[in-house]
Amino acid sequence: MLSESSLFLKGVLLGSVFCVLITMLGHIKIDYGKRTHHHERHHLQAPNKEDILKISEDERTELSKSFRVYCIILVKPKDVRLWAAVKETWAKHCDKAEFFSSENVKVFESVNMETNDMWLMMRKAYKYAFDKYRDQYNWFFLAHPTTFAIIENLKYFLLKKNSSQPFYLGHTAKSGDLEYVSVGGGIVLSIESIKRLNSLLSIPEKCPEKGRMVREVSEDKQLAVCLKYAGVFAENAEDSKGKDVFNTKSVGIFIREAMTNHPNQVVEGCCSDMAITFNGLTCNQMYVMMYGVYHLRAFGHVFNDVLVFLPVNGSDND
Ligand SMILES: *[C@@H]1O[C@H](CO)[C@@H](O)[C@H](O)[C@H]1NC(C)=O
Ligand SMILES: *[C@@H]1O[C@H](CO)[C@@H](O)[C@H](O)[C@H]1NC(C)=O
Repeated sequence: MLSESSLFLKGVLLGSVFCVLITMLGHIKIDYGKRTHHHERHHLQAPNKEDILKISEDERTELSKSFRVYCIILVKPKDVRLWAAVKETWAKHCDKAEFFSSENVKVFESVNMETNDMWLMMRKAYKYAFDKYRDQYNWFFLAHPTTFAIIENLKYFLLKKNSSQPFYLGHTAKSGDLEYVSVGGGIVLSIESIKRLNSLLSIPEKCPEKGRMVREVSEDKQLAVCLKYAGVFAENAEDSKGKDVFNTKSVGIFIREAMTNHPNQVVEGCCSDMAITFNGLTCNQMYVMMYGVYHLRAFGHVFNDVLVFLPVNGSDND
């Protein structure tokens, strides 16, 4: 067990190294998003490793089993290649993952949302997930098929968090006064927040299907408006050093920025060691990440983790 978990973390680190090569080869997709650091924003931090050491063995075993993560991936027919890559890679690490598509797509199994509108898709997916799985899962992770997620790191981040509390988290951004979790980095709702959202979905004054603005408002902002009504606020997730763990860009982009901004600390300065998501990946990069995070390891190099998240029962989870 110990060696499995050390393998895993080795993978995380090596994944970043591997991506330097990818950057050098120039296989990167340019994302024009800005990496902002608002120190005044709401944020939540990962537990620190010493705290975890203080927890007893039995408690740790219980803890590692108490996270049940349900993954929602919103897809459109144009995404089939990414869809296939997500299905074959990180989504296997969710306790359950389902794809929600804008229309029926023959090649893969999905829940048909019968709409092309991202906000409607998101609403319907949350309603479906809550109605069907409220008793089985306590955390709900929603992502686009361009996102790569490391679910074990999400569970680690959530270790000391209470899913009965109303909050949601990811990579936050600001739009006027509204602080929202950007969908690009993935969105995590506690069971309490999805419950509150659900009770608002049928009240048009509080959570309208169409935004009141003339111009199109993105689905992540609409979600934030509804959740705010329900007393659920956006939290930016950070590691114990204050680095973002949900990212709206790919590792390649971060490495490239680091090469320019702090060339002596490219790998260390790029991203959190406990990163949970990256975004803007191509299919190819999905597999590169999978290889780096879960397979490649440096022989004889040891990481010691005190907690192990076992694969889902009966899954062919790598
Ligand atoms: C989690 O939050 C709920 C609701 O506020 C509370 O009843 C419960 O005691 C909390 N659990 C822990 C372990 O703090
Ligand atoms: C998972 O499988 C093991 C071995 O087959 C079994 O003992 C255990 O009860 C299962 N756990 C769940 C949650 O189904």
